Amino acid sequence: MKKNNQIGLGTAAIGRPSYINIRQKKLAFESKASLVAKGLQVLDTAYDLGVRFFDTAPGYGMAEQLIIDWVNSKSDKDIKIATKWGYTYVADFKQDAKTHEVKEHSLSKLNEQWKVSKVLLPYLKIYQIHSATLETGVLKNQAIFKQLLTLKQEHAIEIGITVSGANQLEILKIALDLEVDGQQVFDVFQVTYNIFDQSLGAIAQEMVAQNKKLIIKEALSNGRIFPNEKYPHYSNAYKTLHQLAMKYGVGVDAVALRFCLDSLPIYKVLSGAATETQLIQNLKALDFKLEKEELEIMKTFAVQPETYWAERKRLAWN
Ligand SMILES: NC(=O)c1ccc[n+]([C@@H]2O[C@H](COP(=O)([O-])OP(=O)(O)OC[C@H]3O[C@@H](n4cnc5c(N)ncnc54)[C@H](OP(=O)(O)O)[C@@H]3O)[C@@H](O)[C@H]2O)c1
Repeated sequence: MKKNNQIGLGTAAIGRPSYINIRQKKLAFESKASLVAKGLQVLDTAYDLGVRFFDTAPGYGMAEQLIIDWVNSKSDKDIKIATKWGYTYVADFKQDAKTHEVKEHSLSKLNEQWKVSKVLLPYLKIYQIHSATLETGVLKNQAIFKQLLTLKQEHAIEIGITVSGANQLEILKIALDLEVDGQQVFDVFQVTYNIFDQSLGAIAQEMVAQNKKLIIKEALSNGRIFPNEKYPHYSNAYKTLHQLAMKYGVGVDAVALRFCLDSLPIYKVLSGAATETQLIQNLKALDFKLEKEELEIMKTFAVQPETYWAERKRLAWN
């Protein structure tokens, strides 16, 4: 299978039994061993289908460790890995845990998680602050910036941040301007972008003009792009996605992913597939291109970021 340099695999859904999204089918969790076996299968299938970019985090249960074990068995220098620091997984693989992850944007957390993540070198190419917000103060922490720039220099990696929320654009703009001794801190920006939250569009061109890489997450709006009677306000979007899916002989997931590829100058869009079947369906996005008029119609489906993220907040871990 031809290598693809457009779609990467995000591993948030494969390293733990629960995730914040709309589960069409509840995944049965048997044991950690079965999670490992299924996760490795998804990684192998991704590789066989030409995926060479993988995004992970210590906060995704066993996902980062799965990648560590798996990548060494592949030993292919074309594999590129992005990981993150800042969240710790605390649910102990219990689906009904009260707390699944704990956020801590401190220098000591960065140092502690780097000790594990650095094992991913030389495949590790991007090291990101996981979910940077104004509230944690991470975007004002000079000691953290200095440490990240040291890691960048010592290991030839790129430094990134991931952002979420109604104010993700505000955070991006602040991060874009951050410098230490005249050197910009961030090279890569992982941002939510999809047919419902298109806010990134306002500054994407400018970011790419500054040589920044954009990685798109949540391209399927955590499952909200699939027809769902709970979201009647998306009925026009559901109709168009269905028509385009029929036209191109793919699923609506592939159309939603294709929208990201065709509407912005992005580095990668992440598939968040939880299973091999989903991944195969997601990768059909590589088989066609949307026409200009189709993109224009899809651009009309954007909602206000506040509306989008209020809805996102109501999604449960399941
Ligand atoms: N703050 C951050 O840094 C952050 C936040 C979010 C995501 N990410 C990264 O971005 C990646 C992708 O984002 P995401 O997984 O949250 O969002 P997403 O792509 O919007 O949604 C993924 C979910 O869509 C469903 N899905 C995918 N293909 C499907 C298909 N063909 N049929 C039915 N359902 C399908 C799956 O749900 P089910 O599991 O219910 O089947 C899957 O868990 C993550 O893996 C992670 O690497 C980073």
